[in-house]
Amino acid sequence: MARREHFGGRSAAILALAGSAIGLGNIWRFPYMVGQMGGAAFIIIYLISCVLLSLPIFLAEAVIGHRTHAGTFGAMEKLAPGTKWKWLGLLTVVSPLIILSYYSVVGGWSLGYLWQSLTTGFHAGEIGAVSSAYGAFISSPGWPLLCHTLFLLGCAWIVSAGVKSGIEKFNKITMPLLFVLIVLIMVYSLSLPGAAAGVDYLVRPDFSKITPSAVAAAMGQSFFSLSLGVGTILTYASYIRKNENILATGLGTVGFDLLFALVAGFAIMPAVFAAGIEPGAGPGLIFETLPYIFSKMGVVAPALSAIVAVLFFVTIACAAFTSAISMYEVGVAYLVEQRKLSRRKATALIFLGTWTLGALCSLSFGPLAELKLFGLSLFSFCDMLTSNFLMTFGGLLFVLFVGWKMDKAVVRDEFTAGGTARFNCAVFDAFWFLLRYIAPLAIVIIFITNFFA
Ligand code: PFF
Repeated sequence: MARREHFGGRSAAILALAGSAIGLGNIWRFPYMVGQMGGAAFIIIYLISCVLLSLPIFLAEAVIGHRTHAGTFGAMEKLAPGTKWKWLGLLTVVSPLIILSYYSVVGGWSLGYLWQSLTTGFHAGEIGAVSSAYGAFISSPGWPLLCHTLFLLGCAWIVSAGVKSGIEKFNKITMPLLFVLIVLIMVYSLSLPGAAAGVDYLVRPDFSKITPSAVAAAMGQSFFSLSLGVGTILTYASYIRKNENILATGLGTVGFDLLFALVAGFAIMPAVFAAGIEPGAGPGLIFETLPYIFSKMGVVAPALSAIVAVLFFVTIACAAFTSAISMYEVGVAYLVEQRKLSRRKATALIFLGTWTLGALCSLSFGPLAELKLFGLSLFSFCDMLTSNFLMTFGGLLFVLFVGWKMDKAVVRDEFTAGGTARFNCAVFDAFWFLLRYIAPLAIVIIFITNFFA
């Protein structure tokens, strides 16, 4: 069997992990959740839950992947051979592929909007008209299907090239570009007249907005944003070289993800306020309000408006690609390592499965709108099932596995790079406590709140 590939070094590993973490969750989901859940107060809970909850879970997944140098299923087989834990290995092969299917639909929309900004631009006029244009686009069967197909083909192309020449290379080019683009957009957005109200919204907390469901939503968002509970972190960590410092890699990734989410918030909210739009507009926030802003801007400065629109949709598409390939890779790693398929065949098989489910999700905005599962369209059902249940459930099982099943000495060895990293040795007890007690409790709370919300 071919030798297992590795990322080139720590920076390559951080860029790949950050690539998985930074995605639509930061640019599309985070700003609209901040808008819906009450601005700065939500951001504060989000920051706390990233550090106290998500970082330990991230490290738990990374410990498993790095220890075993295997994909999710193989890792469970290595650490707990012949036990029921193999189901966790299988669950975390399936969950990211379900997410990938509908994620690719939204990734496709960003390609569709990019195409529009490159060709006709946005001239829809009033916000109502822009919203109907968005509705018409996502429900027209042909375009979104084509965009979904192109998006997924792009992912397949990158993943089939391998861990180093595909995934690592793509992230190395795209991630720095993404940071530059989002900062440029932020600077532009902050310069708009009326932007100050958006800044105020993001920095002045209203603590009355902190409700149990806001707390659960913030924790859930930190899960989604850090790609937790579905084996992507585990799989990428399995490509990190043996002597690498897992804590440093984890801190780097979580730090970049947080920074990016905040910058994205400051790139979007000031523009939303400047245009006098309701911040709680929901999932359509970036696809409805931003084209509106671009169309308004286009009246005064058409060239600038066109440039910003292109940059914005390039940013979203790149962010979506870097995340989507991490989900894709989980399935490919399983088929290559466990089913002994070639990387090309594995990539093709995953393409077929996720394309089909994604196509059905895409059609659920139009011709298949009547098809309901638990009262939800197929797209919303897949989103709800994965973000509210499968990610949290997978995360819970990972922390229970590392905190209660794995040998503490092994976990310490991984966490402290064989006892050589002094800072890691100093914080190991705090990590262990958060992992064994706080994380499982917090996940159960999110789970129950999601169930009854
Ligand atoms: N973290 C990604 C984002 O914020 O867009 C979403 C994601 C990627 C979720 C990978 C799950 C996953 F396995």
